[in-house]
Formats: sequence, C-alpha cells, structure tokens
Amino acid sequence: MARLDLASKLGSWLRLAALIGAAAALAAPSFQAAAGVDKPKLERGKGERCVEDTDFMRRNHMQLLKHHRDETMHRGIRTTKHSLKGCVECHASEKTGSVAATKEDFCMACHTYASVKLDCWDCHATRPMAKKPAKTEATAEVKTSPMMANTQNGGAKP
Ligand code: HEC
Ligand code: HEC
Ligand code: HEC
Repeated sequence: MARLDLASKLGSWLRLAALIGAAAALAAPSFQAAAGVDKPKLERGKGERCVEDTDFMRRNHMQLLKHHRDETMHRGIRTTKHSLKGCVECHASEKTGSVAATKEDFCMACHTYASVKLDCWDCHATRPMAKKPAKTEATAEVKTSPMMANTQNGGAKP
C-alpha cells in the first residue's frame, strides 16, 4: 500500500519533471541560452488561463498580435479574442496597474531580456481603461465597465 503510493507519486513527479523540462526547452531557448539565466519572473495573469495555451502564448503571442492587428486595420475584422486590450486587462501589474510601466511589468520583463522594444505603447494604453488610441464602440464600453470598478477606487459599494 505505502509502496504503491510512493511508486505512483514518483511516477507523477517524473512525468511532471519531464513536462516542465520539455516546456522550458520549447518556451524560451533564446534568452535562456543568450543570458544564461532563468526566464524573468512574471506576474500571473488574471483568471484561469490565457486566451490560448500558455506555452503557445510564450512562443507565438507576437504573431497573434500582429496578425490580429493586420486583420483589424486592413480588413476591418474585429474579434476580441486576441485583442491587445484583453492582454492589458489580464496582465496589468497589481503594483503598477500597467503592463509596461517598469521593467518587471508583464510585457516588459521578457522583452528587456530579449532586447525587444515595442512601439505599441505610443498609441495603445498600458493600463486597463486608460487613455485609448481611438474611439471604441458602445459595446466595448459595456464589456469593460467592470474594470472601472477596479481602477477607480474599487467603487463606492461595499
Ligand atoms: C501609431 C499608433 C499605433 C501604434 C504604434 C500601434 N497601434 Fe495598434 N492600433 C492603433 C489603432 C488606431 C488601432 C485601431 C483602434 C482600436 O482598435 O483601438 C489599433 C488596433 C490594434 C489592434 C486591434 C484592437 C485591439 O485592441 O486589439 C491590435 C491587436 C493592435 N493594434 C496591436 C498593436 C501592437 C502589437 C503594436 C506594437 C507592435 C501596435 N498595435 C502599435 C494604433 C497603433
Ligand atoms: C482572461 C485573462 C487573460 C487574457 C485576456 C490574456 N491572458 Fe495571457 N495569461 C493569462 C493567465 C492566467 C496566464 C498564466 C497561465 C498559466 O500559468 O498557465 C497567462 C499567461 C501568458 C503568457 C505566458 C507567461 C509565462 O508565464 O511565461 C504570455 C506570454 C501571455 N499570457 C500573453 C498574453 C497576450 C499577448 C495576451 C493578449 C493577446 C494575453 N496574454 C491575454 C491570462 C490572460
Ligand atoms: C514569456 C516572455 C514574454 C512575455 C511575457 C511577453 N513577450 Fe512579447 N516577445 C517575447 C519575445 C522573446 C519576443 C521576440 C520574439 C522574436 O524576436 O521572434 C517578443 C516579441 C513581441 C512582439 C513583436 C515585436 C517585434 O517588433 O517584432 C510583440 C508585438 C510582443 N512581443 C507583444 C507583447 C505584449 C503586448 C506582451 C504583454 C501582454 C508581451 N509581448 C509579453 C517574449 C515575451
């Protein structure tokens, strides 16, 4: 009985270790190899999970965002699944309220390591519900209104 437990526990640990190893190797080989350090410490996003599989996001978020931008800008398609606004709402720091105010903030942490510089924040807000690059539809206002309670003093209600 005890031996069986130990064996199965060991089995899951080994499987977990293998998974973590594989994920790490796939996730960020460039800065781990380049800098010889661990991936920067990231604040966990809000909610249960990201808009796509986490490991996929680590490797492919740039393509997602660029693709999404192209679709929005050039073809007038507007989905919310990969919206930059969504990233900001879930990934803004608890401390700074922003995704890019300090080097530790979510969208800066890896980029600092990888020497990626984004111009996105010239136009796009780094905080939920901060200044917007352009007018949004009324529906967007309704959808994001719960965020206002968070950013504006938690609201007056108990
Ligand atoms: C010169 C200003 C400007 C810059 C720089 C810029 N954008 Fe945008 N972006 C806009 C405008 C204007 C829109 C359309 C209005 C909107 O959807 O809010 C837009 C829309 C988007 C959208 C679709 C709407 C949304 O909220 O998801 C994405 C995604 C996006 N941009 C990503 C990026 C990324 C990533 C960068 C940096 C690599 C970037 N943008 C840089 C002005 C800019
Ligand atoms: C609904 C909230 C939510 C939205 C919207 C969201 N994320 Fe996430 N994201 C998360 C959570 C939660 C995690 C951590 C998941 C985990 O640990 O498995 C995460 C993880 C990530 C990671 C991996 C971080 C790490 O630890 O290596 C990246 C990169 C990422 N998100 C980028 C984005 C981008 C880019 C967008 C916008 C296109 C976005 N996320 C939108 C909640 C969100
Ligand atoms: C887990 C680490 C990590 C996190 C977190 C992260 N990025 Fe990145 N990002 C990278 C790496 C690495 C690259 C460079 C990839 C390459 O050069 O192919 C990159 C590139 C990009 C690019 C393309 C830049 C260019 O000029 O080609 C965009 C846009 C981008 N990230 C947006 C974001 C946004 C927005 C967030 C926050 C929501 C974010 N990233 C969070 C690691 C990360």
